[in-house]
Amino acid sequence: MKGRALAALLKSKLRLPVMAGPMFIASTADLVIAQCRAGIIGSMPALNPRSSAALDADIARIGEAVGDAPYAINLVAHASNSRLEADLDVVLRHKVPIVVLALAANRDLVARLQANGSLVFQDVIKDRHARKCAEIGVDGIIGVGAGAGGHTGDLSPFALCQEIRAWWDGLLLLSGCIANGRSVLAAEVLGADLAYVGSPFLASDEANTQPGFRRMIVEGTAADIVTTNCFTGVDANFLRPSLVENGLDPAQLKRAEGKAINIDGGGDNARAWKEIWSAGQGIGAVRRAEPAGDYIDWLAQDYAAARAAMRMPA
Ligand SMILES: Cc1cc2nc3c(=O)[nH]c(=O)nc-3n(C[C@H](O)[C@H](O)[C@H](O)COP(=O)(O)O)c2cc1C
Repeated sequence: MKGRALAALLKSKLRLPVMAGPMFIASTADLVIAQCRAGIIGSMPALNPRSSAALDADIARIGEAVGDAPYAINLVAHASNSRLEADLDVVLRHKVPIVVLALAANRDLVARLQANGSLVFQDVIKDRHARKCAEIGVDGIIGVGAGAGGHTGDLSPFALCQEIRAWWDGLLLLSGCIANGRSVLAAEVLGADLAYVGSPFLASDEANTQPGFRRMIVEGTAADIVTTNCFTGVDANFLRPSLVENGLDPAQLKRAEGKAINIDGGGDNARAWKEIWSAGQGIGAVRRAEPAGDYIDWLAQDYAAARAAMRMPA
């Protein structure tokens, strides 16, 4: 099933049109379970459990807890990921409902996952990347707009959605700073089927985030977010107070020119993600640290209020 029929089917299984974005280190199996139980698509990176065996145990636990609710596992499909084959085996064995691929996905991998019953999504920051994803047959395209947490895009969501929706009839997700009900509705109005939400869940009780990190998410606003490619070679958004706490001057960060991409920081930059914390510009809408289910309850109410304000049926 593809296109509008797939979008309608997925949406019919959800309480509101939202998928959680997988977050390195921060997303846990407990977070995925809480997200699914509250009625959105939960997700986590395959690399968060410390081994492929731990991933196996986590996915078994998630499957048991959420029944036939859709959830997603994020695989880094790059030669530098030494766990890729072992993690892929686990994902195939469990017939994970949705796989979000990052980096160097190829037609064979997409086809293998789909033949095994998974839907395959991939994130993009440009229309050109989206066209490549369509060419290799993905089921869902995730447009990552400017201001997103983690590795960010730099395009306005208006530009991204306008360009991709002009030719892509398949499932489209939009991410970047979406944190309240009005923004979820706005993503739909722009043409996305689902909003893709990451940073607000950094303040969830079930997330693997330190108290100081949660505090920065709750107290921070868009003005606290700094974009730099100096840690991974690719633009990513980090919390200014966290850079300062680590002895770095945000104004002095140098752009990395021609640096090899190293997605998890690694080497000299091993502090990125672990101690230098990432978040997107939408954190100004995060009101408190709380269980993920409470945030999603609020988001559902806020979304219903946004629809009512626009005189749209609930
Ligand atoms: C701390 C952090 C870690 C992230 N790690 C990953 C990751 O491992 N894989 C991935 O596909 N996206 C990752 N992302 C991106 C999210 O899945 C999602 O695209 C993004 O958070 C959406 O933007 P928002 O944070 O403004 O809601 C990460 C984001 C954050 C904030």
